[in-house]
Amino acid sequence: MPKITIHRDGEAHQGDIAADSNLVVLAGIRKFPYPHLSYMCGMGKCGTCKSRIVAGAEQLPEPNWREKKTLGDEALAEGYRLVCQLRIFEDFEIEQEGPVRGPRKRMP
Ligand code: FES
Repeated sequence: MPKITIHRDGEAHQGDIAADSNLVVLAGIRKFPYPHLSYMCGMGKCGTCKSRIVAGAEQLPEPNWREKKTLGDEALAEGYRLVCQLRIFEDFEIEQEGPVRGPRKRMP
């Protein structure tokens, strides 16, 4: 069971997830890493889930075309990824900057 650590503003938030999970999908159904993960579109377009990979990068595939387009070469070279594009199999540690941002609540 992969252990996930999210660093933000000097705090570390930890939780376990099932292997082969996507962090944005989990947050979308209000499971950890909710409410500690910033994300919006879940489709690699908005860049809100941009994260610096602190540990666990070796399990990740090469960046896909969405990550290349949204992040650009410089951010990728600095170790940033779009976590909405990733499935996690092993322990994983990321850092996000700024306040947590998420999709707006739907009005009834
Ligand atoms: S949530 Fe929009 S790019 Fe990942």
